[in-house]
Amino acid sequence: MKVFFSRSLLLVGLLFGLSAVSADNTTLPHYAKDKHLGVGSCSNSTCHGSIQPWKKSNVLQNEYVTWTKEDNHSRKAYKVLTNKLSKRIARNLGLKDPAHEAKVCLDCHADNVPTDVRGERFDLADGVGCEACHGGSERWLESHTSSETTHEENLENGLYPTEDPVARATLCYSCHFGDANKLVTHRIMGAGHPRIRFELDTFSATQPAHYEVDKDYRERKPTFDGVQIWAIGQAIGMRSNLDLLMDPKRGHDGIFPELVLFDCHACHKKMETASWRPRAGTGLPPGIVRLNDANFIMLRHIVKVVDAGLGSQLRKQTRALHRSVIKGNAAVKRAAVAVRATTEKAIKLIANHEFSDKDIVAILKSIVAEGLKGELRDYASAEQTMMAANNVVVVLENAKAINDLELDVLNKALDKMFDATKNDKVYRPGKFAAALKILKSAIPNL
Ligand code: HEC
Ligand code: HEC
Ligand code: HEC
Ligand code: HEC
Repeated sequence: MKVFFSRSLLLVGLLFGLSAVSADNTTLPHYAKDKHLGVGSCSNSTCHGSIQPWKKSNVLQNEYVTWTKEDNHSRKAYKVLTNKLSKRIARNLGLKDPAHEAKVCLDCHADNVPTDVRGERFDLADGVGCEACHGGSERWLESHTSSETTHEENLENGLYPTEDPVARATLCYSCHFGDANKLVTHRIMGAGHPRIRFELDTFSATQPAHYEVDKDYRERKPTFDGVQIWAIGQAIGMRSNLDLLMDPKRGHDGIFPELVLFDCHACHKKMETASWRPRAGTGLPPGIVRLNDANFIMLRHIVKVVDAGLGSQLRKQTRALHRSVIKGNAAVKRAAVAVRATTEKAIKLIANHEFSDKDIVAILKSIVAEGLKGELRDYASAEQTMMAANNVVVVLENAKAINDLELDVLNKALDKMFDATKNDKVYRPGKFAAALKILKSAIPNL
C-alpha cells in the first residue's frame, strides 16, 4: 500500500501552530446549532460541482465530483445501511427500525443532525455530506464565496476547522471509533459490524483528498507536516479510548467493561497453550484481557524523541493503566486521568514541534526496536506499525531525504509488512516479526 500526501511547509505550520491548536474546543458539526443546508447547496457546477479543477480558483471546485465518485462518505455510506449485512445487523440487534432509519446507524453513516437544523435541500440519503465535516453552512454559505472573506471569518460563521489536525482527528474519530453519544459497541460488532481501524494521516490521503495543499492554501490556512498529522491522530485516538474507558455509562456493559476498548484478538483467536509471552510495556500476568494499546505505543515513541522525560512518563503511566485493570474500577479511573493529562501535554508538544528527518527516522527505529522485542505482536499494533512505517517513508521520499536505492529497499520492506498485516484472520506474529527485521535493515542512517 502506497499512499501519497504532500509534505507541507513546516514553517507556516509553526507560525500558526499555537493559535490553530486552540480549535480543540470547537463543537463538532453534528452537535453545533447551525442549519445544514444539504449537499445540493454545494454541488452546483459553478460551485463545487465542476467536472475539472479550476485553474483560477483557490480551491479545486470539483470537490463534489471527487466525493461522489471516489469517496466512501458519499451516498454509499448511507446506502450500505440497506444492504444484506446491515439488515442482518439490525435483525440481530433487534432494532425497531430498519438500519437506514435507525438513529444508532444513521449517526455515523449520514449527516444525521436533528430535524430542526435541516435546510430545504437537506437529504439524509446523501450520506456523510460536506456539512458533516465542514459544519452547517447556514451562516457561511453565502459569504464564503467572496474573495473578501477570510478563513477566520468563515470559522467564526460556523465552518469547522478541518485543516487543524486536532480538530480533524476529533471529527474523524467521532465516527471512526465513537464519542460520548455514538459508538460501534461490541454488541454492534457481535451483530456483524466490521472491525474499525483508523489512522489519521493514511485515511486523510485515502479518503481521497479533495483539496491541494499548495501556495495559496498556505497563505490562507495553517498547514501541518504529515508526521504531525499522524502523531496527533495517535494522541486523539488514545484520548478517545481513555474517554470511553472513563465514561460510567458508555464504558460498561453489565458486569463487563465495553469490550471494544480491548485487544479484539486477545479473545478472538484459537485457543493455544504456551504461546503467552510477557510484555514489558504492560507488566500484565498471563490470562488477562489487555487494553488495545496500539495508539499508546505509537504515541509513546513519538513523544520520546521530542521530549524524553515526557516519553518515560507516558511509558510509566500507560503501564500503570494496564496494571490497573487487575486492580479494579477506582484504580482504572485514577490511572486513566493521569494518562489523559499527559496525552493533552503531548498533543501541544507535537503540534508545535518541527520534526526533522532525523527525528522521523529516530521514531521509526524506536518503534521497530520495540517490535523486535515482541511488544507489538498483536494484530492492532502490527497494523498501526505498518501504517506508521508507510507514513515515514512517504515523508522521507517527499522531502528527498533518501535516494532512489534507499527508497526501493524501504518499499520492498513495506510490501512485506503490508503482506503480513493485510488480513487479521490469517495474521501470524512470526511473519510480521520477519518483515520488521527486513525493515530494520532498510532504514537509512540520516
Ligand atoms: C460510531 C460510528 C458508527 C456507527 C454507530 C455505525 N457504524 Fe457502520 N461503519 C462505521 C465506519 C467508520 C465504517 C467503515 C469501517 C472501515 O472500513 O474502516 C462502517 C462500516 C459499516 C459497514 C460496512 C460497509 C462496507 O462498505 O462494507 C456496514 C454494513 C455498516 N457499517 C453498518 C452499520 C449498521 C447497520 C449500523 C447500526 C447498527 C452501524 N453501521 C453503526 C461507523 C459506524
Ligand atoms: C469526511 C470529511 C469531509 C467531507 C465529507 C468533505 N470534506 Fe471537504 N475537506 C475535508 C478535509 C479534512 C479537508 C482538508 C483540510 C482543510 O483545508 O479544511 C477538506 C477541504 C475542503 C476544501 C478546502 C480546499 C482548500 O484549498 O482550502 C473544500 C473547498 C472542501 N473541502 C469542499 C468540500 C465539499 C464541497 C464537500 C462535499 C461534496 C466536502 N468538502 C466533503 C473533509 C471533508
Ligand atoms: C459522520 C461520520 C463520519 C465522519 C465525521 C468521518 N467518517 Fe470516514 N467513514 C464513515 C463511514 C460510515 C464510512 C464507511 C462508508 C462505507 O464503507 O460505506 C467511512 C469511510 C471512510 C474511509 C474509507 C475506509 C475504507 O476502508 O474504505 C476513509 C478513508 C475515511 N472514512 C476517512 C475519514 C477521515 C479522514 C475523516 C475525518 C476527516 C472521516 N473519515 C470522518 C463515517 C465518517
Ligand atoms: C473479552 C473478550 C473479547 C474481546 C476483547 C472482544 N470480543 Fe468480540 N466476542 C467475545 C465474545 C465472548 C463473543 C460472543 C461469542 C458468542 O456469541 O458465542 C464475541 C463476539 C464477537 C463477534 C461475533 C462473532 C460471531 O460468532 O458472530 C464479533 C464480530 C466480535 N466479537 C468482534 C470483536 C471485535 C472487532 C473486537 C475488538 C474491537 C472484539 N470482538 C473484542 C469476546 C470478546
